[in-house]
Amino acid sequence: MSQQYAYLRGEFLPLEDANINIRTHAFLYGTAVFEGIKAYWLPETQEMAVFRVYDHYRRLSQSSHILRLQLPLSIDAMVDITLQLIQKNQCRQDTYIRPIVYKADLRIGPILKVPDTKDDFCLFTVPMAGYLDTEKGIHVGVSPWRRLDDNAIPARAKVNGAYVNTALAKTDGALCGFDDVVVLTQEGHVAEGSAMNLFLVRNGQLLTSPVSDNILEGITRHSVITLAERELGIQTLCRPLDRTELYIADEAFFVGTATEVAPITKFDHRPVGSGQVGAITRQIRDLYSKVVHGLLPTYEEWVTRVKVASL
Ligand SMILES: Cc1ncc(COP(=O)(O)O)c(C=O)c1O
Repeated sequence: MSQQYAYLRGEFLPLEDANINIRTHAFLYGTAVFEGIKAYWLPETQEMAVFRVYDHYRRLSQSSHILRLQLPLSIDAMVDITLQLIQKNQCRQDTYIRPIVYKADLRIGPILKVPDTKDDFCLFTVPMAGYLDTEKGIHVGVSPWRRLDDNAIPARAKVNGAYVNTALAKTDGALCGFDDVVVLTQEGHVAEGSAMNLFLVRNGQLLTSPVSDNILEGITRHSVITLAERELGIQTLCRPLDRTELYIADEAFFVGTATEVAPITKFDHRPVGSGQVGAITRQIRDLYSKVVHGLLPTYEEWVTRVKVASL
C-alpha cells in the first residue's frame, strides 16, 4: 500500500503522525461526532464512487449542532478534502471514510464551553470490503442492552461516546454466538441494530422503526425506502415495532453504510420466514449494490466520482 495520509489540524499528514494529545477533551469525555462514508472502486473507469457524501456531511453538521461543536469547515470544503484524501491515499478498492469533529481543547472538566472552545475536523480512510455477510443471511439476537434515549445521549447525533452502547451490545451479542443484535428502546420497542437500521417485511410491505424510536436517521435507510418505493412499488410503513414482530416477519434485513443490505435469516434461534434469504430482500440488496456502483443513472446524484490514477 502507498504512503497513507490523514487530515488533522488543517493539513494532510502521514497517517502515523496523525496523533492527538492524551489530554484532548474528546478523548477524556467522548465529545466528538463522526460519520462513516463508503466509497466503491469502479475498475472500468478507474474511479472511486463516494456514496451520498453531501448527505453524510449534512448529518455531521447536524450532529455537531446538537453537541454544540463548531464545524471549522463548510460542507463543500469537507467534501473537497475527502476527495483529495481518496486521491492522496491511492484508494483503488472499496474504502470506508471516517470524518470526525472533536473537542480539541486540552482541558479537564466535561462542560462544553462555547463559544471559547477549540473544535477540529479530522479524517482518515481504511480499506473495507464487507462488514456483515450480505449473501447467506445472518443470525441476530435481541440484546439485553437498551438503546440510549434522545434525552440522554441522542441516537440521532452520531456521537463518539454513544458507541459504548454499540460496543456493549455488539460484543456481548458476539459472545453469545450472534452475528449482530437488535437493541430495544427503554419502552421495549425495536430501535435498530448495533450500528445499522432494521427493516422487516410483512405481507409484502416494508416496516421500519420511526425516527422517534431512538435510531440514527440512516442514509441507507432513506435510500432503501426510496428504492423500494420507486423501483419496486413497495411502500414502507415507519411505526413502532414490537419485539415479537421480529419472530413473525416474512423477511428481515439490516441496512447501513458499512453493512449495506444484510439479510437476516434468524432472530433469537427462530428462523425468519422460510429461513432463507427472502425475495424482496434480495431485490433490495441487488438494487442497492447497483446504485452505489453508479449503475443506475436515475440515482447518479447520490454518487460523487473521483478519478484515482495508478502511479
Ligand atoms: C447506530 C447506527 N444506526 C444506523 C446506522 C446506519 O446509518 P447509515 O445508513 O447512515 O450509515 C449506523 C451507521 O453508522 C449506526 O451507527
